[in-house]
Amino acid sequence: MRSLKFVNNRLFYLDQTKLPLREIWRECKNLEDGFKAIKQLRVRGAPLIGVFAAYCTCINLKKLPRKKEDFLKALGKDIKHLKSCRPTAINLAWALKRLEVCVLKNEKSSVLVIKKKLFKEAKLIHKEDIGLCKKMAEVGVKLIKKGDRILTHCNTGFLATSGEGTALAVIFKAKKKYKDIYVYADETRPLLQGSRLTAWELMKKNVPSSVISDSTAAFLMQKGKIDKVFLGADRIAANGDTANKIGTYSVAVLAHYHKIPFYVVAPFSSFDLSLKSGKFIPIEERSGQEVRKVLNKVYIAPKYAKVRSPAFDVTPSRLITAIVSDKGIIYPPFTKNIKKILKIK
Ligand code: MRU
Repeated sequence: MRSLKFVNNRLFYLDQTKLPLREIWRECKNLEDGFKAIKQLRVRGAPLIGVFAAYCTCINLKKLPRKKEDFLKALGKDIKHLKSCRPTAINLAWALKRLEVCVLKNEKSSVLVIKKKLFKEAKLIHKEDIGLCKKMAEVGVKLIKKGDRILTHCNTGFLATSGEGTALAVIFKAKKKYKDIYVYADETRPLLQGSRLTAWELMKKNVPSSVISDSTAAFLMQKGKIDKVFLGADRIAANGDTANKIGTYSVAVLAHYHKIPFYVVAPFSSFDLSLKSGKFIPIEERSGQEVRKVLNKVYIAPKYAKVRSPAFDVTPSRLITAIVSDKGIIYPPFTKNIKKILKIK
């Protein structure tokens, strides 16, 4: 199952704002299409927006000037524009940085050659992302036992990556191995990625599951009904502090209080070792309408109510039991072990 297709140099994506009611595929024809798709969360999830933005940059190349100097200038502008559309997930900036490095490596070549190299790089980012998902699943499944009841937050499956997912890929693999695991999916207010997308993915993969309102997690933990928490990350700082969908921090505090292992699953592309700690991670603030209304339709708050709507929060690394990466399981002390496992000096 896939959320993105790149066929004959054309880019198609599953419009996630229409799920689970309708499965609508759309074509991204230029940079502005892509910018809007990411901004409006038709394409979402940290690794997926990285892959999508890389392809989107490439399909827009045909619109850029032919003269090399002008071409490079326009390309730089496109990349900067796309990078700005979602600030928290590092994968977007990471994938676009790879395109910038690719241009630098080939700056002496013709515009035609640079274009070919960029397409090649975007395809490579895509292929790698699929492989990273497989690796994380293989690594993470070792942490799951027969009969485990797992809580997850937001959406981390094939809708959030171009492969099988991060935390959900681990869960899918565990389901194949044990059959009897059970998953609780937080609905994930305000945009309901848990109830609309995770529940849909779990049902497609026949994983026994229930959707719960966000406020139900504490109750289930208190009753001893949750064995483990598995969720994803949008950016992990050098000390392991992790930005993920708003509400993740509450789950981490709850898990800590109830002594439930709390696992973050993320590929190396979600780490940002240039940031010492989570306090430097930029947090995207979204439109108040997403809180005032449900699914952009019905008002559930007064029309002019003031709203705060941070899309992400940061979980301090001391609340994280381990980070499951494509390179292995990372345990505390995170500052030392992240560097060690990612092989960064
Ligand atoms: O705002 P979204 O839906 O793009 O947020 C996505 C998340 O927070 C996911 O949990 C995250 O990207 C992790 S993993 C694929």
